[in-house]
Amino acid sequence: MNKYYPFENPPLPYSYDALNPYIDTKTMELHHDKHLQTYVDNLNKILKDSGFQNLSLEQLIYNADKLPEDISEPVRNNAGGVYNHIFYFNGMINSPLKSPVGNLLNAINKEFGNFENFKKEFKNSAMSVFGSGYAWLVKDKGKLKIITTPNQNSPIEQWLCPILNIDVWEHAYYLKNYNVRSDYIENWFNVVNWEAAEKNYNLCS
Ligand SMILES: [Fe+2]
Repeated sequence: MNKYYPFENPPLPYSYDALNPYIDTKTMELHHDKHLQTYVDNLNKILKDSGFQNLSLEQLIYNADKLPEDISEPVRNNAGGVYNHIFYFNGMINSPLKSPVGNLLNAINKEFGNFENFKKEFKNSAMSVFGSGYAWLVKDKGKLKIITTPNQNSPIEQWLCPILNIDVWEHAYYLKNYNVRSDYIENWFNVVNWEAAEKNYNLCS
């Protein structure tokens, strides 16, 4: 994606129907073409004439607090919305690989005992998000951690290195799973892109 203003909505790295039967086509179309697009459009609108067009997406998130009061919160919400959604879409794939690999697998076994325990803890965290937000697997000073963020806040604000995220805003699952977030999380585990997660893990210091 274009990391600088004007920001763009990158195409999904797979077709809209690729995640069936776990995540339905209509949800993917709306989520990418409407929800993410709105964050991209809003962010570009806010930055136009702001004097901050030279900041990258990540720099906008890191520095949201230091921006002028009238754009600080809108930048946090919309830059976060762009970053978090692209991370989420890139973290999924319809592949036969249903569990972590490589260094990430070793780290998960070390931190959580085994993959099943990790899944349980990750699901509990994703279930615990009150209202809208995300659950994340991050690396924090060399250790794996599961955290949640409200709204469109992003772990990079806290200098945490993201490995994997799940969007638990209702728009991510309501058409297929109605209000049953736990079904969505179970489905999502079938489309995690563990190779992408492994790459992200290896990029974290
Ligand atoms: Fe979303």
